[in-house]
Amino acid sequence: MDWGLKNRIASILKSNNGRGVMLAVDHGYFLGPTEKLEEPKKTIAPLVKYCDSLMVTRGVVRTSVDPNFPVPIVLRVSGGTSIIGEDLSNEKITTSVKDAIRINATALAMSIFVGAKYEHNSLVNLGNLVNEAEEYGLPVLAVTAVGKELEKRDARYLSLSCRIAAEFGAHMVKTYYCDNFEKVVSSCPVPVIIAGGPKLPERDALALTVNALKSGAAGVDMGRNIWQSQYPIPMIRAVRAIVHSNYTLDQAYDLFKKLCQEYPIRNNQPNTSRNNFSQNQKPQQNRPQQDRSQQSRQRPNKPQQNKPQQTRPQQARPQQNQQKKQYQKPQQQKQPQKKPDAKPQPAAAAQAKSQ
Ligand code: 5RP
Repeated sequence: MDWGLKNRIASILKSNNGRGVMLAVDHGYFLGPTEKLEEPKKTIAPLVKYCDSLMVTRGVVRTSVDPNFPVPIVLRVSGGTSIIGEDLSNEKITTSVKDAIRINATALAMSIFVGAKYEHNSLVNLGNLVNEAEEYGLPVLAVTAVGKELEKRDARYLSLSCRIAAEFGAHMVKTYYCDNFEKVVSSCPVPVIIAGGPKLPERDALALTVNALKSGAAGVDMGRNIWQSQYPIPMIRAVRAIVHSNYTLDQAYDLFKKLCQEYPIRNNQPNTSRNNFSQNQKPQQNRPQQDRSQQSRQRPNKPQQNKPQQTRPQQARPQQNQQKKQYQKPQQQKQPQKKPDAKPQPAAAAQAKSQ
């Protein structure tokens, strides 16, 4: 592998442990001003110093990311569809490699849609992008399983998608966590990082991270579970502690609770968790009530493994129930948010200082 390519990958997945925390803020490329990412600059600025790289589109990087701050940019270069359009899988390459170099991107990212109507196009796009990017030593991150394909989120499907991405030359693959995630990782010869998926209670999102790392993931490319939290900085710092300091779930959640005492609640807007990238969720007004309640029950990204780790504290429950209720009744009133009960364990508190 060329030195430049290796060097760029090492600034995303750190050379000491091969792991990385990528902050995903590219959602607007097909979701528009999605919840808590309405003003990207405000979302990104407080979080950027806690990530190893930032996944973003060229429009947001140019308008909303401080060029003086040295964060590696993983530039999303595919798109061309929207959440209200016909088919999310009909993407093309929309940003040239030349423009990515002008932006000083460290890596390029694009989606593939295995099993979807435009599977062929997206895979050929990946092959062509790798051909061009490698001329300049730019790594490519393939993003799998967004849109309708999201519903097939099991190890069989995700292994198929990730392996195909690697076979086409992707240098890193992003996918979703699932049961038997070890199978997805072991059958993919390049590093696999996980997306966070729809907003979960914080402890569940941290459990997802712990379980994915235990199964061999190289890190996270996480968005909504960080910036849709009422406590985005504590959340990214807790995720970081898992990825880079091997925190257990309890340690990470204790750190999160401790940090919640230090950082203000971002705002009092409740989370509605409506953007889960499934086209089946797009037109709220046209959807039968029955379908909506069914969908609000589906939490395909919820970690299934290591069940004992999934015990949630009482304070996580009301938030989850509230989300379901809000999903069915979009005209609800704002609810004041409670701070989590913060009683960090001494060991975790001592470690927290280093995070
Ligand atoms: C969508 C993406 C997102 O960046 C990705 O899904 C990560 O975000 P989240 O953690 O919110 O799922 O690539 O195509």
